[in-house]
Amino acid sequence: MKIAISGKGGVGKTTIMALLAQELKKNGNDVLVIDADPSPHMAETLGVKKPEEIRPIADMTKLLVERSGKTEGSPMYNMNPEVNDLLVDFMLEHDGMKLMILGAIQTGDKGCACPESNVLRRMLTKLLLSEDQVVLLDMEAGVEHLGRGTIAGIDHLLIVVIPSKSSIRTALKVKKLAEDVKIPKISFVGNLVTDEEDKIFLEEGLGTPPIAFFPNSQAIRKAERQEIPITTLKDAAGSAPSILLQKIMG
Ligand SMILES: Nc1ncnc2c1ncn2[C@@H]1O[C@H](COP(=O)(O)OP(=O)(O)OP(=O)(O)O)[C@@H](O)[C@H]1O
Ligand SMILES: [Mg+2]
Repeated sequence: MKIAISGKGGVGKTTIMALLAQELKKNGNDVLVIDADPSPHMAETLGVKKPEEIRPIADMTKLLVERSGKTEGSPMYNMNPEVNDLLVDFMLEHDGMKLMILGAIQTGDKGCACPESNVLRRMLTKLLLSEDQVVLLDMEAGVEHLGRGTIAGIDHLLIVVIPSKSSIRTALKVKKLAEDVKIPKISFVGNLVTDEEDKIFLEEGLGTPPIAFFPNSQAIRKAERQEIPITTLKDAAGSAPSILLQKIMG
């Protein structure tokens, strides 16, 4: 299964994805987390000590461009040899999970991250997964990058939303774009939800209830300030991660 996470900036995408990764691992799944944010933050969130040692997928792009002899920026190079073999060089094993980083965006003429987006899209559409393998894709905030088709090949898109008007607006835009590119399953996940009123506000604003609600967690805030990986916390978000897992696997 391939799951991506999206939503407005700072709503908790990386945090929720890290908690979901941990929950999937506990469930016995083989987890590959791909940080596709141009300002990657997942490695730190998971407590990877030297994230700079992970070879970014952007490197793979260069490699492929060099091999195929085509100019960088051309969207037409081929993903050869087989994708799965190539990937091993770009993965780091940490705490029983695998992590990949898309890497820095090389700004072309139009400021487009096309080579990276293409390689990611190819990877996602060509990756062959077994039953218990799950790919989690942490993405850049907002909607702009969705137009590049980076989420093609995703089975389930989680849209993180906090109880605010602007967050709901972004979430609805993301949903619309995801529907346009025919993502089979799209769900909202509430974050920083403190009470019943927040839940109702979200449900009414979105027109459908989120599949899980994450609390505003003192433990998560503290961990971030002290640079403690949230995956080492016990019960940082109560039952929310396990409810999210159940709904996803449902
Ligand atoms: N449920 C929560 N309770 C308390 N703090 C939270 C919670 N979720 C996220 N945070 C905090 O909010 C901040 C933003 O979270 P995070 O980095 O996960 O958001 P993001 O959506 O991935 O941001 P970006 O758009 O920059 O990628 C972090 O400091 C994080 O620790
Ligand atoms: Mg993030």
